[in-house]
Amino acid sequence: MILTGFVHDLGKILCLWGEPQWAVVGDTFPTGCAYSEKIVFPKFFDANPDSKDSRFNSRNGVYEEGCGLDKVMLSWGHDEYIYHVCKDYLPQEGLYMLRYHSFYPWHRESEYDHLCDARDRELLKWVQAFNPYDLYTKSHEKPDVKKLRPFYEELIAEYFPAKVRW
Ligand SMILES: [Fe+2]
Ligand SMILES: [Fe+2]
Repeated sequence: MILTGFVHDLGKILCLWGEPQWAVVGDTFPTGCAYSEKIVFPKFFDANPDSKDSRFNSRNGVYEEGCGLDKVMLSWGHDEYIYHVCKDYLPQEGLYMLRYHSFYPWHRESEYDHLCDARDRELLKWVQAFNPYDLYTKSHEKPDVKKLRPFYEELIAEYFPAKVRW
């Protein structure tokens, strides 16, 4: 949990590499099926041609009921990117936290359960357990990097190789 929290937003490095902000941050949501009204600012989906396309705007859209989130293409963002960087190194509980931490329509609003399989439902609790440590929980005091560094370096070395592919 601590290591996952430490790395969870490193996918935002995409912004420094020139990706536009809209393609890096913000809530994520499934594409290729109906947009939930619980996604932030749902009215803006009116301008998306997929919302008027019968192939993509039904409840299941291009997916099969209960297909599992692994088969669902979510909107791109820093979550999916850091998931791919870490997928060979962290346990699946951590990988779910990375991959779905911005998928608020699912982990906070309970939408899209019809696309989930048993594994998704089991691991949802880890995504929800992580959320209180994410938004708006940062301390006002600057962390003491020198003091904290050995702890984090040891934790990183326990799970990650010396070099990772970005
Ligand atoms: Fe994030
Ligand atoms: Fe975050």
